[in-house]
Amino acid sequence: MMTDMALFESRLNRHYDELKWLYCELYEGGIEHFPALVEDLLIRFAERSSELKKLDSEREQDPDWYKGNDMTGMMLYVDAFAKNLKGVRKKLGYIAECGVNCIHLMPFLDSPKIKNDGGYAVSDFTKVKEELGTMEDLAELTAECHRRKINVCMDFVMNHTSEEHEWAKRARAGEKEYQDRYFFYDTYDIPAQFERTCPQVFPTTAPGNFTWLDDLKKYVMTTFYPYQWDLNYQNPVVFQTMVDHLLNLTNKGVDIIRIDAVPYIWKRLGTNCRNLPEVHNIVRMIRMICEIVCPGVLLLGEVVMEPARVVPYFGTVEKPECHMLYNVTTMATTWHTVATKDVSLLKRQTEIVSALPREYVFLNYLRCHDDIGWGLEYDWLRSRAIEEVAHKKFLNAYFTGGYFGSDSRGELYNDDPASGDARLCGTTASLCGIEAALERGDSEGLDRSVACDLMLHGYVLTQSGIPMLYSGDEIGQLNDYGYKKEERKADDSRYVHRGAFHWDAAKLRKKKGSVEERLFSGITKMEEIRKAHPVFLNAAAVSTRETGDSSVLCIVREYAGEKLVALFNFAPWGKTAWISEDGTYTDLLSGETLEAKDVPVAACGIRWLLRKESSNII
Ligand code: GLC
Repeated sequence: MMTDMALFESRLNRHYDELKWLYCELYEGGIEHFPALVEDLLIRFAERSSELKKLDSEREQDPDWYKGNDMTGMMLYVDAFAKNLKGVRKKLGYIAECGVNCIHLMPFLDSPKIKNDGGYAVSDFTKVKEELGTMEDLAELTAECHRRKINVCMDFVMNHTSEEHEWAKRARAGEKEYQDRYFFYDTYDIPAQFERTCPQVFPTTAPGNFTWLDDLKKYVMTTFYPYQWDLNYQNPVVFQTMVDHLLNLTNKGVDIIRIDAVPYIWKRLGTNCRNLPEVHNIVRMIRMICEIVCPGVLLLGEVVMEPARVVPYFGTVEKPECHMLYNVTTMATTWHTVATKDVSLLKRQTEIVSALPREYVFLNYLRCHDDIGWGLEYDWLRSRAIEEVAHKKFLNAYFTGGYFGSDSRGELYNDDPASGDARLCGTTASLCGIEAALERGDSEGLDRSVACDLMLHGYVLTQSGIPMLYSGDEIGQLNDYGYKKEERKADDSRYVHRGAFHWDAAKLRKKKGSVEERLFSGITKMEEIRKAHPVFLNAAAVSTRETGDSSVLCIVREYAGEKLVALFNFAPWGKTAWISEDGTYTDLLSGETLEAKDVPVAACGIRWLLRKESSNII
């Protein structure tokens, strides 16, 4: 048995040269500061509990531990779900009942009451927001989760701090040392140059990338909201302190760190200030640092961009960066398919993702706390006479119910008249038409919408990687329009899908025939099937088939003798998948035995046809 110290040293030695090299490349005079960084790592390692160290070692022995078919995630707001961290602990039984073994707790660190961007404006990285609990509550929650084999994910908002963070306050008070941790300018000259090449994240709710501070007579860089001040990672103190905060949080038992808005953390004049090479160096350094101090911890990169920008965040086999990334293009393409009822782009997208190395782990999802941005493959769509601006208009009209035949109840987000761009908000259930059908008392419409909701969840569960549910979706929670009455939320339509969890409605999951029960039992059943069959492993080969019907998608997964033929009908009426696959199959969802030839698929229906190798042997 290696002593703790020997273990630390062997992990450090493995990465020492590369870490030092990258650090010195990034920071002038880095040689001098580097020993202090290493010292910090040792302190955080020494502080790490023996339970967490044990978990680290187990995971080091089994580095693919998160690549199975047994991980199902759910993201939730602590206050909306259970008031506070202690409350979440009490609700772990429900989480387990949902088939979920990984919870992503939305930002819970200290942030101002009003200007907080849903917690993404952190004012103290060492403290939990008072009304949500304490760091001890967090440690107790993660310990209880670990006892129940549940992983905990949290956001690490590293691009910026709140203007109420101590550094920001001291910068505002005129302390140069703290101003150097942000980007301050006396005149608009340099900001103007940045604005020329740097696009906007929130063009309508927070236009521009800089904010004028009248008291200080200076501009400060604020890529997101004016109260979120961008940190300057060119300053080694910023890097070192933020790394220390991160390690402090992992020492509280957090298993997965979601690196929020990571592409933005390095800025350079004359560029778009996104995905610069230094960003990758920093992520790589963070990966090595975690492997030294807390190798059981995973990094989830939040890169909401086109595939060519996303994939580099996995790094290379020798020099990995993030363990997991969001499958954002597939998510947007799924909703595009709901509106167009034409699966050709989704088929193509499935093929593109399936061709990537199977070591890559994607987080698959339908909805999250953010808007849906229409980041589709427009070059390809153009070849089919679909133009970007017109198409975005169509999608937004469709999902806000303004298109003939649409029952969707979404809301626009950051509608930018200049570019014709707008994004979209709403819960899965409301986007699928459940809200409108319930209002109309239209039972046929309701059946169709529930079927669509289930089919979309089934599609997420068919993909390789980790399915991540959005809390409330498991019981078909509808949009919550209450935010419009709250001043701090009213202009941010993302709050329409961030409503309080309806525990009363959740009770109806046990009432046969209710919307809640149909969704809850349908989704959990699919999760169980997914966990029971190796064909859903990340390692499976995935391909698509032509179905002869533009509304029906066919995905085939094959692994160790198992073959799954998955069919998804995006049309609101029954269709036939004109496929022809050898063998006899069992539909894992309906229990039917059938041949995979000219298969009927119900309106908005899904089929999971499984062939066992043995059924082929006569
Ligand atoms: C991420 C979050 C988003 C937030 C932004 C700024 O994109 O998902 O909710 O507004 O970062 O922190």
